[in-house]
Amino acid sequence: MSSDLTPSDSAATGDGPSAELAHGGVRDDRLARPEYSGPGALPLAAIDHTPRRSDLYPKAARRVERQITLMFLLSMLMAVLFVIGYVAIDVGAEIYIPVLGTVGYQNLVLGVTFGLGVFLIGAGAIQWAKKLMPDVEVVQDRHRLQSDPAETVKAHDQYERGKEESGFAAYRIMRRTLIGALALFPIPLVVLVRDMWVNDDPALAGMSPAEILSETAWTGGLRIVIDGSLAPLRPEDIPVGGLVSGLPENIMEIQEETHTLNERGKSAIILVRMDPGDIRAQQGADWDYQGILAYSKICTHVGCPIALYEHRTHHLLCPCHQSTFDLADAGNVIFGPAARRMPQLPITVDEEGFLVAASDFAEPVGASFWERG
Ligand code: FES
Repeated sequence: MSSDLTPSDSAATGDGPSAELAHGGVRDDRLARPEYSGPGALPLAAIDHTPRRSDLYPKAARRVERQITLMFLLSMLMAVLFVIGYVAIDVGAEIYIPVLGTVGYQNLVLGVTFGLGVFLIGAGAIQWAKKLMPDVEVVQDRHRLQSDPAETVKAHDQYERGKEESGFAAYRIMRRTLIGALALFPIPLVVLVRDMWVNDDPALAGMSPAEILSETAWTGGLRIVIDGSLAPLRPEDIPVGGLVSGLPENIMEIQEETHTLNERGKSAIILVRMDPGDIRAQQGADWDYQGILAYSKICTHVGCPIALYEHRTHHLLCPCHQSTFDLADAGNVIFGPAARRMPQLPITVDEEGFLVAASDFAEPVGASFWERG
C-alpha cells in the first residue's frame, strides 16, 4: 500500500527546545507529505505538540530506560517464582486472604506470579513505546492497494528506520532483558505439562498414566447402576437398539472418600443392546450378556464422554472430533483421530439377575496422551 508520512510536531520543524530526538533518532525529510487534493481530501488538522521530557533531556531518557529494564527483570523473576511455587508449595495448602477468604496457596502464588510476569512485560513495552520511541504525529493517506517495487524499497527503508529509531538496536541492556523476559515467559506453561505425568496421590505413587488408567473401580460382581438414578439394571431394562449410561454401584462412596470425580471419569460406561447375531467381534470371549455390550464412555482420543449411538450401524460417534467406533466389531476405530479402540467391560448377571461387571477393564480407559510420550 502506498503511504506518505508527515511529521508534524514542532520539534521536527525546529520550533521546540530540541529538533533532535534525545536518543539520537533522526527525522527523515523523505517523510514530507505532498498536499493531496484528490477525492475525499480534507484539510489537515492543526495539532499542538508538546515534546516529552525524555526527548528533551538525556537524563530523563536514561531514567525511563532504567525503569523499563527493571520491569523486564522483575518479569523474569516472576517466571522463576512461578516455577518455584509450582514445585515447592503443596497442592492442598490453603491460606486465608481477607475479602477472598480461604484460597489454595499454590493457586494464589501461580496466579499472582504469572499475572505479574505478563503485566510487567506489557507495561515495559508500553512505557518503551510511549517514552522512548519517536513522538511524532503521522498521517497516512489511502491509495491503491497494489504496491510497486519502489514502494517496497521504501517500506524496507521505513522498517530499518523504525528499528533504529525505536532504540531496539541501541538500548542493549533493555533489549536483552526483554528477550530474556520473553524467553522465560513460556517456561511456566511448559512446567504445567508435568501434571500429565506426575500425580500427588500417595496411593498412585510411581504409577505411569497408563497404569493409573488401567485400574478403575470395576471388579467382578460389582453391580452396574444407571448414571443419574443409581438404580441397578436388569437385562430386560435395555431394549434392542437402546443405550444406557452406567456407573459402578459404589461410585458415591468413592466420591465421598476421595472428594474428586476422578473415579467417575474413569468408570463411566455405556451399555448398548443389539441382536447377538450382529456382534462380529468382542475384546474377549462372551464379554456380552445376551447382546448387551458395555464399553467405556470416555473417548480414547482426548477424553470426551460419548453417547451418540447409531443403533442400525452400531457405530458410536464422538461429538468432539468425530472419532467413530464400531461397537459390533470390538469397539474398533473406523474413522477419526482416535488411535485406540474403545475399551470393553466384560459383564454378566448376579444371582438376583442384575447386570454386574465380570472384571475390570483389560485396557487403559480414557485419552491416550501417554502413548505419545
Ligand atoms: S475426543 Fe473424541 S474424537 Fe476427539
